[in-house]
Amino acid sequence: MQEIFDKANAVLAAINDTKPASAEELEAFRIKYLGSKNVLKEIFGQIGKISPDRKKEFGQLMNSINARAEEVLEIARLKLVMANIPSLEEVSDLTAPGYSLPLGSRHPISIVKNKMIDIFARIGFTVAEGPEIEDDWHNFTALGTPQDHPARDMQDTFFLTEDKQWMLRTQTSSVQIRMMETQKPPLRMIMPGRVFRNETISARAHCTFHQVEGLYIDENVSFADLKQTMFYFAQEMFGRDTQIRFRPSFFPFTEPSAEMDISCFICGGPGCAVCKHSGWVEIGGCGMVDPLVMENCKLDPVKYSGFAFGMGIERITMLKYQINDLRLFFENDVRLLKQFESAL
Ligand code: DAH
Repeated sequence: MQEIFDKANAVLAAINDTKPASAEELEAFRIKYLGSKNVLKEIFGQIGKISPDRKKEFGQLMNSINARAEEVLEIARLKLVMANIPSLEEVSDLTAPGYSLPLGSRHPISIVKNKMIDIFARIGFTVAEGPEIEDDWHNFTALGTPQDHPARDMQDTFFLTEDKQWMLRTQTSSVQIRMMETQKPPLRMIMPGRVFRNETISARAHCTFHQVEGLYIDENVSFADLKQTMFYFAQEMFGRDTQIRFRPSFFPFTEPSAEMDISCFICGGPGCAVCKHSGWVEIGGCGMVDPLVMENCKLDPVKYSGFAFGMGIERITMLKYQINDLRLFFENDVRLLKQFESAL
């Protein structure tokens, strides 16, 4: 049995003594010690002859020999590479043009997000962000959706703790609360970000997507300001001929609430596949910030009023570029992404 140990140690010594110096020697070394029929395997094949009390020792020895062989090979390989780097004098034409590397491209979601930031920046909206892991207060309670409120069922939440106090945010509206809690009006900001919902993935739904939230709080902010802001945005985003329409709706944190549609920029009104023959397409929700939400954030709703809105970036991108499958945004196939390089 000792004989097998001796053999293994002899291999280790041989490995330590070898310094492969050419590509051929390197390959011979690799085959001998690390190849599919290497010396070590042959020795390891005799493990049956090792007594049980020394099996562990044998295994460790074999592992260390293998590791050493890999180390020697790597060092020799690096030395060879270094030895072959041409010196400056040897490089014949220093003025030859370099190789150009193919560039990636910006994701359509980023392009549209940046465009939205641009459009709102022109009328004084700054950008704010909040965390993707959110607590119950910011994602629900402060937004007028307490524990037992039926509106919680509107969104399928990924909870992170058993007590449902922590979750992946279902909406960027949570950032509104964070801003109202920490800053003094006037507040005029948009809050882009990723949100999460426990939905079955399909062409029209995904478990994660992006929203842009908007918030404007000051003295005397009116519904007319909201409409004008949305009208401005729609025209900048979808073209000068775009009209907007508000439909009454419900959100727990706005009163009154509305859903906003834009006139179909494909057919311009008479109806087509994109607008499902209605002439209008929905782009988001909005409304006047509910006084209770302001109180939750220690703002005086008598002194201040404001509006909020929320839009899905994927939705706007799909409409704008007539992409019919949401899943395409998450596959990162360069053939799709490249098409938006020169867009906008
Ligand atoms: N948070 C809403 C959602 O995810 C969207 C929304 C609607 C945001 C109305 C708002 C708003 O700020 O006023 O469905």
